[in-house]
Amino acid sequence: MAGPMPDQPNEIVKFDNVGLRYGTDPEVLSDLTFTLYPGSFYFLTGASGAGKTSLLKLLYLAQRPSRGAIRMFGRDMITLPRSRLPDFRRRLGVVFQDFRLVEHLTAFDNVALPLRLAGNEEARVRRAVTEMLDWVGLSHRAQAIPARMSGGEQQRVAIARAVIARPRLLVADEPTGNVDPDMALKLLRLFEALNERVGTTVIVATHDVHLLRKVPDSLIMRLHKGHLSDPTGALRYPPRPASEPVRDAPTERRTSVRRGLRRRAGDAA
Ligand SMILES: Nc1ncnc2c1ncn2[C@@H]1O[C@H](COP(=O)(O)OP(=O)(O)O)[C@@H](O)[C@H]1O
Ligand SMILES: [Mg+2]
Repeated sequence: MAGPMPDQPNEIVKFDNVGLRYGTDPEVLSDLTFTLYPGSFYFLTGASGAGKTSLLKLLYLAQRPSRGAIRMFGRDMITLPRSRLPDFRRRLGVVFQDFRLVEHLTAFDNVALPLRLAGNEEARVRRAVTEMLDWVGLSHRAQAIPARMSGGEQQRVAIARAVIARPRLLVADEPTGNVDPDMALKLLRLFEALNERVGTTVIVATHDVHLLRKVPDSLIMRLHKGHLSDPTGALRYPPRPASEPVRDAPTERRTSVRRGLRRRAGDAA
C-alpha cells in the first residue's frame, strides 16, 4: 500500500470539477464537485434534460468524464485501466432507466444473474431470488420473459436484480417511473432497507419531488442545466463520522424500516 489517503475511509465517491460533453456538443455537466458518503441515501433531482442520467452514467462507469477527477472506493477512476473496470462494476447495483433486462431470460433468471456470476451455489441463489421476487410482488411472474411483462413488472425485475447481490453503491435511474404510488413507496422501502441493513450507499435519480419526502434522512442533490445547484445539498451536509457504524442510524428510522419489512412480509402472505 502507498501512503495514507486521509479522506478515503469516509467517502464512496468524490467528484472534483467534473465536466461531461458528448462529442463536440456543449457540456451537459459542468463543474461538478461533490462527495457521496458511505451509508448515506441521496436523491438526485432536476427537470428532464438536466443531466441526471449523464451523471449516473459516470457513477456506474458507462461514461468517462471530459474533464475533472473522479475517485470511487478510494481509487482514481480516470487512470483505472479498462481491464480493472469489471472489478469495480461488481461493487455497483444499477437500475437503468430503460431496465436493460436480458430478453431471453425469465424474470427469475434475470434476478439470479448477479448471484450466479458471483459464483454462488444454486440452492442459495434459488432461496435469495425466490425471496426477492416475493418482496417486489412478482412471485407469480417468475417464469415470464421481459417481452411478456408490463413496464412496471420489468422495472421491478430490474430493481430486484440491482439489489440482490447487496452492492456497496446502488445507482437507480427513475426507478419508480413506471409503477403506481403504492408500489413506488414499497420499492423505496426496499432501497431504504438495503441502505439501513447492509450499509449500501444509495443514489436515486427522480424528477418526482413527492418521492423526496418519503425518505426522511435522505440528502438531496439538485441538477439544473448540468450544474449542481442546491445550497443544502450533499456538499454541505455533515458527513457521518467515520467512527460511527452504519447500523447506528436513528432508532426511530430503524424501527419504521422494520415495520415496513413486516408490512412487506404481511403483504406477501
Ligand atoms: N448519448 C448522448 N449524446 C448526445 N447528447 C446526449 C446523450 N445523452 C444525453 N444527451 C443530452 O444531455 C442532456 C442531459 O440528458 P440526460 O442526462 O439524459 O438528462 P436527464 O436524465 O436529467 O433527463 C440532454 O440535453 C440530452 O439531450
Ligand atoms: Mg434521465
